[in-house]
Amino acid sequence: MKFFIDTANLDEIKEAYSMGMVDGVTTNPSLIAKEEGAFEEIIKEICDIVDGPVNAEVISTDTEGMLKEAHHLAKIRNNIVVKIPMTVDGLKATRTLTEEGIKTNVTLIFSPLQALMAAKAGATYVSPFVGRLDDLAQEGLVLVEQLVEIYSNYAYDTEIIVASVRNPVHVLDAAVIGADIATLPFAVLGKLAAHPLTDKGLKAFLDDWNKGKG
Ligand code: G3P
Repeated sequence: MKFFIDTANLDEIKEAYSMGMVDGVTTNPSLIAKEEGAFEEIIKEICDIVDGPVNAEVISTDTEGMLKEAHHLAKIRNNIVVKIPMTVDGLKATRTLTEEGIKTNVTLIFSPLQALMAAKAGATYVSPFVGRLDDLAQEGLVLVEQLVEIYSNYAYDTEIIVASVRNPVHVLDAAVIGADIATLPFAVLGKLAAHPLTDKGLKAFLDDWNKGKG
């Protein structure tokens, strides 16, 4: 399973990368807005750290505007993936970008049929938002199960990025279901590594060592 990191913060990306846990990066306009500096500069700096896919999102809502932004973003580096919102205009843009060989991530997916349409339009990736569905008591991971089944039924190559991840259980369930990728906030990445029995066991080993050999 691939781990992407869901942040535009360079320190977080560098730290996660040094752990060997970054197969790619996802950003969105809200994450970019939290950071200092111009959008394009932030994306370039992320691409200097990470050689996997770096997702940068358009802010236009019409097909023409999305395509203009996408063409510009795709020229920044060859590992850029353009995030396109799941709308009719977004599907049109996705289809054109796919024909042009530009990688896309159709984002803000909340239903299996939206994901089916995105795959039919040729999306490289889709991003179902599990946390935001859970917030409405709608079981985000059930959506992921449905997507895995639908894409397998029809042999779509579109990869599923489980997004809006809020806790380690989301990551565990996504892995058990067989999602291709989970994109993790930095805080969740830290939680995956931690276990109180690891800390307790390590302390006991070191205490014993210091008593006997220290
Ligand atoms: O990148 C999109 C996504 O992961 C957003 O997460 O926590 O704002 O729902 P969240």
